[in-house]
Amino acid sequence: MNKTLVISGATRGIGKEILYYFASRNVDVAFTYNSNEEIALEICKDVIDKYKIKAKCYPLDILEPNDYKELFKKIDEDFNRVDYFISNAIISGRSVVGGFAPFMRLKPKGLNNIYTATVLSFVVGAQEATKRMQKNGGGSIISLSSTGNLVYTPNYAGHGSSKASLETMVKYAAADLGELNVRVNAISGGPIDTDALKKFPNYEEVKLEVVKRSPLSRMGETKDLAPMAYFLCSDEASWCTGQTMIIDGGTSF
Ligand SMILES: NC(=O)c1ccc[n+]([C@@H]2O[C@H](COP(=O)([O-])OP(=O)(O)OC[C@H]3O[C@@H](n4cnc5c(N)ncnc54)[C@H](OP(=O)(O)O)[C@@H]3O)[C@@H](O)[C@H]2O)c1
Repeated sequence: MNKTLVISGATRGIGKEILYYFASRNVDVAFTYNSNEEIALEICKDVIDKYKIKAKCYPLDILEPNDYKELFKKIDEDFNRVDYFISNAIISGRSVVGGFAPFMRLKPKGLNNIYTATVLSFVVGAQEATKRMQKNGGGSIISLSSTGNLVYTPNYAGHGSSKASLETMVKYAAADLGELNVRVNAISGGPIDTDALKKFPNYEEVKLEVVKRSPLSRMGETKDLAPMAYFLCSDEASWCTGQTMIIDGGTSF
């Protein structure tokens, strides 16, 4: 029987790449979209045709973390099991106003939204996933973090501080869920060329700086993170929990 991955925000960027990486290795995929239903349906059809796996997409707004409860009930109806959960989705645009800004322009509402979408959504999603994983004797949970919590990035205080909190939450989850054989880790990426990064007002500047700072002299690409996600879900990583794996082309040093 195929294993099942549940992943949030897999219509674009890093999430989409991870979805294809798992699907091409015979993992069934249950994934979420927010605004791009049409794209999500196309992805579903494409992976079913290409890899003969089971795939289904569901709407989710990570600003409403409790919606994960209903989401997992729907997934229960469509899939027999949940083995892996990846909390990947991230908010941008209007909902981060006052959160994506220089320090003196930060506002509680924008900061709260980022914290809700990043940390609280991870908590509720991981709790619901764990209840299902328990039935299979264990599983693997991953959250996407970013090196913006280690390296100053203009306007990134809201995201960076939420990612720092997320990494600590991952450690606590790992400590508490180990007895269920549920492993919990974070993957922290350096700047990766996705829509989220293109929304940075200084996108071109960031890109040049990354290439300059990286010993590998290039920008991060979505394909750089997916193999680590797959490794962390595999049995090869069976003693790996409570960690943050940094993949940043060497830029944070
Ligand atoms: N890009 C980077 O430089 C970088 C570096 C390190 C870590 N990361 C992390 O990697 C993850 C993915 O980032 P990305 O750059 O791939 O992002 P992205 O290209 O902007 O994609 C965002 C995804 O999240 C979904 N989404 C947006 N708003 C949502 C909401 N309110 N509720 C639920 N889903 C929502 C989008 O769905 P729709 O398309 O349907 O709207 C999309 O699938 C994030 O956690 C990010 O912090 C990114």
